[in-house]
Amino acid sequence: MTTKHEATPDLKSVKSPKTTADFAKYFQPPSLKEAKKRGKEDVKVLYDFSIPDDMKEIGKGRHYLIRTYGCQMNEHDSETMAGILEQMGYTATEDELQADVILFNTCAIRENAEDKVFGELGHMKHLKNNNPNLILGVCGCMSQEEKVVNKILSSYHQVDLIFGTHNIHRLPVLLRDAMFSKEMVIEVWSKEGDIIENMPKMREGNIKAWVNIMYGCDKFCTYCIVPYTRGKERSRRPEDVIAEVRDLARQGYKEIMLLGQNVNAYGKDLTDIKYGLGDLMDELRKIDIPRIRFTTSHPRDFDDHLIEVLAKGGNLVEQIHLPVQSGSSEVLKRMARKYTREQYLELVRKIKAAIPNAALTTDIIVGFPGETEEQFQETLSLVEEVGYDSAYTFMYSPRAGTPAAEMADSVPEEVKKDRLHRLMEVTNRWSREKNLAMQGQTVEVLFEGESKTNPEVLAGRTRTGKLVHVKADHSLIGQLVDVRITDAKTWTLWGEIVTKVEV
Ligand code: SAH
Ligand code: SF4
Ligand code: F3S
Repeated sequence: MTTKHEATPDLKSVKSPKTTADFAKYFQPPSLKEAKKRGKEDVKVLYDFSIPDDMKEIGKGRHYLIRTYGCQMNEHDSETMAGILEQMGYTATEDELQADVILFNTCAIRENAEDKVFGELGHMKHLKNNNPNLILGVCGCMSQEEKVVNKILSSYHQVDLIFGTHNIHRLPVLLRDAMFSKEMVIEVWSKEGDIIENMPKMREGNIKAWVNIMYGCDKFCTYCIVPYTRGKERSRRPEDVIAEVRDLARQGYKEIMLLGQNVNAYGKDLTDIKYGLGDLMDELRKIDIPRIRFTTSHPRDFDDHLIEVLAKGGNLVEQIHLPVQSGSSEVLKRMARKYTREQYLELVRKIKAAIPNAALTTDIIVGFPGETEEQFQETLSLVEEVGYDSAYTFMYSPRAGTPAAEMADSVPEEVKKDRLHRLMEVTNRWSREKNLAMQGQTVEVLFEGESKTNPEVLAGRTRTGKLVHVKADHSLIGQLVDVRITDAKTWTLWGEIVTKVEV
């Protein structure tokens, strides 16, 4: 299907507002009520992305630098933006002084993520003073937030361009506007756009590749900004995902990470077919590529069919990231996670029964509004019960416009910090124990490159995603090799190559 791209009339497009009030007319701050009305409009899948003729050569002899914050989705969006810029003739650089275009691809998930970006944007002032032709752009999730755009408009005049997560395909046009405009160019579509299929990608490395399977999130966990910054759930057509994975396999990639904020909802919005993540994984399983992973799973939509397919193994690796957020059913209810502690534990039991060697990882938030010490203890006991291979742990951070930000936040900062420390002690102990249990085992490792600290040592990952260091020849980078684990610490394993003896 090919549809000509027309600007959807109800999408908000703003250029160079003069004042904050002027800007506010066009912008919709996060609103659960408004966002929940989503779902009825059709999402178009477009296959006709191209760079306008007058922009095809504009980057010749010029350099770009993209600073990426946040999740893998953002990392992959940066690969797309790099692909677009390369098609415009630009060359990548790591040197701020050499760059003609600098893009900040930002993350809004917690306040400290945003503070970091504002700090670094501040540093850009002197660069802009030295090189007035520099185009400084802000994109990603923060640019979807009204308060962020207002702050940039009032205090960060070094910024030339702000564009949202649904406007990436418009980058060539936006850059042109920014080059020729004396004012800040802003284009943030507060409503999600279409799925644009054929944007170029400049992938980092040639061993592992990210592949989007869906965009957006409709889960509306009460603490989370993502459903507002990324829009409603939109699944790519299975045939497009399969074709991309096949193509990456042909190019020699060894590992695919399928991406979505809630990959278990994959296919729910495809009205013409009954097709879910289990069906997709079952198809991808047949492609000749050694490893396929996916992230992130929402426990609620993790169905039996998916477990059944994952249990077939092969290139579907036995690592499952299953964010729990809290071990207390009461807190989970206020988070609107829509499962209880018992339901989560039941899912874990099912997964472990079907895939006994599965490594489980998770995300946990401490200090959610109203979390009591007893409720926190329930989180600790859940961690003990599941025994995660690793866990990402966070202190709750209120996000303006989300329902949780309106709840009375009764947990003092020191208590949040203390809970985070106590939680990390437990999650780290489990990581260490799980790693120690691997000593003496022989596991398949995909070598990804040199270790960061010692060029004679290679760094690779097991099928379960664990980092392994091995003293080995560089020719093994990109290869899958049997390694015997000789030593284990909390974060890293050490091993030696198993030499196969011919008999
Ligand atoms: N889509 C993923 C989560 C993406 S955000 C999922 O649902 O699993 C990654 C993690 O950040 C979340 O799992 C959550 O643990 C954490 N997080 C999200 N919003 C947060 C907030 N307001 N404060 C603290 N941590 C938050
Ligand atoms: Fe945020 Fe994940 Fe919940 Fe979606 S499912 S609202 S991305 S935490
Ligand atoms: Fe951050 Fe946006 Fe990802 S808020 S975590 S970059 S979806």
